[in-house]
Amino acid sequence: MVVENRSREHIESRVRAGVLEHGTAELLIESGVGGRMQREGLVHNGIELCFQGRRHRMDFRELTGGRRITVYGQQEVIKDLVAARVEAGGTVIFEAERVAVSGFDSEAPAIRFSAGGAECEIACDFIAGCDGYHGICRPSVPPGVLTLFERQYPFAWLGILAEVRPASQELIYANHARGFALLSMRSPELTRLYLQCAPDDETGAWPEARIWEELHTRLASAGFTLREGPIVQKSVTQMRSFVAEPMRCGRLFLAGDAAHIVPPTGAKGMNLAVADVRVLAAAFASYYSTRSWDLLDRYSDTSLRRVWQVQHFSWWMTAMLHRFPDDDGFDYRRQIGELEYVTTSRAAAQSLAENYTGLPMLIA
Ligand code: DHB
Repeated sequence: MVVENRSREHIESRVRAGVLEHGTAELLIESGVGGRMQREGLVHNGIELCFQGRRHRMDFRELTGGRRITVYGQQEVIKDLVAARVEAGGTVIFEAERVAVSGFDSEAPAIRFSAGGAECEIACDFIAGCDGYHGICRPSVPPGVLTLFERQYPFAWLGILAEVRPASQELIYANHARGFALLSMRSPELTRLYLQCAPDDETGAWPEARIWEELHTRLASAGFTLREGPIVQKSVTQMRSFVAEPMRCGRLFLAGDAAHIVPPTGAKGMNLAVADVRVLAAAFASYYSTRSWDLLDRYSDTSLRRVWQVQHFSWWMTAMLHRFPDDDGFDYRRQIGELEYVTTSRAAAQSLAENYTGLPMLIA
């Protein structure tokens, strides 16, 4: 049973990131929920890195022996998952209020909530805490069980959706003296753009003219003209790295943002959640077919090995592409040196491509 405190409409329309790793797209297809993604998603074979007014293509297909990424909005994945679950006759409760989890350190975990005016209780075998960074599951774990690791970044991203044909076929990540910028897309008619802003900036500080001026400046390169269009969505994303260890307390298993946050550079958040759930699903399947706790007992260690590799990649992409407030000429030149290396060394390019298209998803 799925207990969700938001409305179906809310989770299906909230704009989030939109890049699926190779293995994430494959898993959706294998699970029978990839049909619309295969029809509507945009398959990309590479990205571009832009610095000092030059663009460099990273050819993922060539560098990784055929791996690619799919641009498909996270809320579209959510729509497909909800529809499949409802279609299969599964119970999904929306707009649940006062949700509380208990008893997960015993044999009798329970979820209590109220919905539609009724007080409800679910007696569970297990609880999967997939309720995000601000959810109730992680804070319900008794003190002393979890160790938290955290890093704040001194900037945020302003993201916009613009109704205009993307000016580039592929994503462009730009390191500019004025700060990071990213061109992405959602469809042949919708451009998604991000730019580094101050951590406490509100969208009101960014009127349309200022947004376009910064984007034009930061994404400028030979032969490229950014296309402007009506801005239909605007939001500020905070940047944080966070991990809670272990990703389990008794019969409560934390997955996705409930257990870890990555900064958005490289679009790993949802992909990492999918990788957790793949491990957890295999562990549940094994438990219900053989009553073996082996994979459940290994869930946290298995997931954390990948989590920390992806933490490193997201931190590295962030550090390579953003301006930090205390940076001086040394730091900027060091970043350019790194970008020169990544775009000219096959070994370095392969490392980026391997991480970007997705590290192997392990089950145990
Ligand atoms: C998108 C978001 C990201 O964080 C990223 O690295 C690439 C693309 C996006 O929303 O399209």
